[in-house]
Amino acid sequence: MSNIILIGFMGSGKTTVGVRLSYHMRRTLIDTDKEIEKQQDMEISRIFAEKGEAYFRALETELLKKMIGSEHDRIISTGGGLPVKPENRALLRRLGTVVYLKPSPETVYKRLKGDTKRPLLQCPDPLARIRELMAERAEVYADAADITVDVDDKTFEEIIKEIEEEI
Ligand code: S3P
Repeated sequence: MSNIILIGFMGSGKTTVGVRLSYHMRRTLIDTDKEIEKQQDMEISRIFAEKGEAYFRALETELLKKMIGSEHDRIISTGGGLPVKPENRALLRRLGTVVYLKPSPETVYKRLKGDTKRPLLQCPDPLARIRELMAERAEVYADAADITVDVDDKTFEEIIKEIEEEI
C-alpha cells in the first residue's frame, strides 16, 4: 500500500478531504500542520511570528523525512507551501501518490475571507496576495502531482469519489 498525499493551496480543502478520505478508506490521517503544532506546542501563526518562516519550512522537511521511515498506508494532508522546496517534492514522490486539489483564487478568497490563522494572508489585499502566490506556485504543484482534481463547484463527496477513481 502507498500513502495518499494531499497538496494544494491554502483553502483548497486538504484538511476536510483528508478527514473524509481517511474515514472512507479506513486509513490513519496525518496533517503536517497539526503535527508541527503538536511537536512545537505552538500554533503555526506563532511559529511564523516568533521563529520565522524558514524555521517552519525546515520543520516541514524534517517531518517528511520522518514519515519516509514510518508506515506507508496513510492519508497525509500537507501545508500549502510544503511542495515549494524541490527537496520536499522529491520526498513527496518517495512517500506515495500525490493528489493536487486545485481551486481558483476566488474560491480560496471566499473560503478564507476573515481567516486569522494563515500568516501569509494577513495583509490589506488578501485576494491579490492569493492570486500572486498561487501564480508563483502553480508549476510547483503541477510538478509534484500524480493526480490533479479541480475542486471549484464540487462537493466533498464528488471530490472524494474522483480521487478514489483515479487512484
Ligand atoms: C501555508 C499554508 C498553511 C500553513 C502555513 C503556510 C502556505 O497550511 O502551512 O500557514 O505557505 O501556503 P494550509 O494550506 O493548511 O492552510
